[in-house]
Amino acid sequence: MEVSASILSVKKENCIQTFYNLETSGINYFHIDVMDGDFVENNTTKIMTEYTEYLNTITNIPLDVHLMVKDVMAYVKSYLIFEPRSITMHYEAAKSEKELLEWIQYIKEQNCKVGVSIKPNTSIENIFEFLPYIHTVLVMTVEPGKGGQKLIPETIEKIKKLKKYLQENHLEVEIEADGGINENNVKELKEAGCDIVVAGTSIVSSNNYKETVKKLKVEE
Ligand code: DX5
Ligand code: ZN
Repeated sequence: MEVSASILSVKKENCIQTFYNLETSGINYFHIDVMDGDFVENNTTKIMTEYTEYLNTITNIPLDVHLMVKDVMAYVKSYLIFEPRSITMHYEAAKSEKELLEWIQYIKEQNCKVGVSIKPNTSIENIFEFLPYIHTVLVMTVEPGKGGQKLIPETIEKIKKLKKYLQENHLEVEIEADGGINENNVKELKEAGCDIVVAGTSIVSSNNYKETVKKLKVEE
């Protein structure tokens, strides 16, 4: 299992130390949670830009950008500058299938991997038609908008259904889960077919990042 550390809960006052501890903890990616105060109530645009600028100068760990925004193209353009590993936007932010496909196309044309995220209440079938064109499906296991929430168990069924569909249709798309993930539920997510887990609180609030990340990797 790969681990993408959400930086949403990193406190400004000790962010340098926290980022260093995260960087040396064995994480695979930094997960950047961009919220515009419109698609979701919280607005993290300023702090996420600050943190990403800093991360871009101090680390080579790839950036996994999660856009919880309405004006997708504006944020895609501003985050492409950081040459992220991937940019993920929400299915629910698109006015039509056509618009979502245009966003997907644009991000890929900039040589950046693209992901599509769905909220807990959005059925997984809605994104089946986009699977041939994307690299990652980000299955929200909490309602997007803040960290520290509890994983919604019903979302694990969606991951199982997605995994089955990918196998039956010979599609190589990564399944990433995001929200409320910790060492107690990560095994179930792996069995359901998850390839990457996003974890914020369960890492940042632990007293040994390396230990926590090792448990989240569910290494055999
Ligand atoms: C929620 C974000 C998640 C969240 C994960 O809207 O997309 O990435 O910050 O944080 P935890 O692990 O605290 O749920
Ligand atoms: Zn996220």
